[in-house]
Amino acid sequence: MNFLHFTGMGGKNNAPIAVFDSGVGGISVLRALLKEMPWENYYYYGDSANAPYGTKCLEEVRELTVVHVDRFIADGVKAVVVACNTATSAAVRLLRQKYPDVPIIGIEPAVKPAALSGNHPNVIVMATPMTIREQKFHNLMERYMGTAHIIPLPCPGLMEYIEHGNVHSMELEQFLERLFEPFDKSKLDAVVLGCTHYPFVERELKKVLGKKVQLFEGGPGTARETKRRLIEKGLLREGKGRGRVWFDNSEGSEAKRKLCARLLRMQ
Ligand code: DGL
Repeated sequence: MNFLHFTGMGGKNNAPIAVFDSGVGGISVLRALLKEMPWENYYYYGDSANAPYGTKCLEEVRELTVVHVDRFIADGVKAVVVACNTATSAAVRLLRQKYPDVPIIGIEPAVKPAALSGNHPNVIVMATPMTIREQKFHNLMERYMGTAHIIPLPCPGLMEYIEHGNVHSMELEQFLERLFEPFDKSKLDAVVLGCTHYPFVERELKKVLGKKVQLFEGGPGTARETKRRLIEKGLLREGKGRGRVWFDNSEGSEAKRKLCARLLRMQ
């Protein structure tokens, strides 16, 4: 997909914002972006052929992310949203060094609002094994250790359900039950959805956790940050009205594109 013609036509501001994830999870961030800035054009790319990222090693995720972002920028996007917590911790710093003039926005688990949601609340952070292993997450946890009781919970195997379009089933509910078995749910105040795939199983999670537990996702904060960065660079799209959304995926299947559209419609 070559977007360079945008630059020629309506100026750079009309070029799309690339939204990247290891698969379909980043659609939860795209949803927040569309709510915040419906007038922008978006190019969504999921690397489902190489998913999951969260159980890979750092170097591999970094390399995959950089290769994709190199291509988006060469194709003429005006900004890049790394809508994947795992890829953000592996590569966002490097990407910002490589492209100092392009707004590159990452996502991190919404630990801050969860930690501030009560009086020393008990918070579980669900994320991929890699996100939890990385220094970026340790720094984030340390910052809020005095404010909340935070327990990281690696969830290998969960993103695969969403990636296969299974966001509501007995099997998924049982998977989530097993995941939270070691915890006393009556003492739990908040759960952070620290992987962009997880907001799509919110309904099932609520069944398992009960209504009292608050859920936090990083998409809305990332969308607000993207808007700030575009304003700062004078890159906001001028003409209003709805922008366009392109779906692309390394798997290249029609089924994946359909799943993206279905997830985007989900509330
Ligand atoms: N959606 C990705 C995230 O936000 C991870 C999924 C994966 O393991 O590839 O971390």
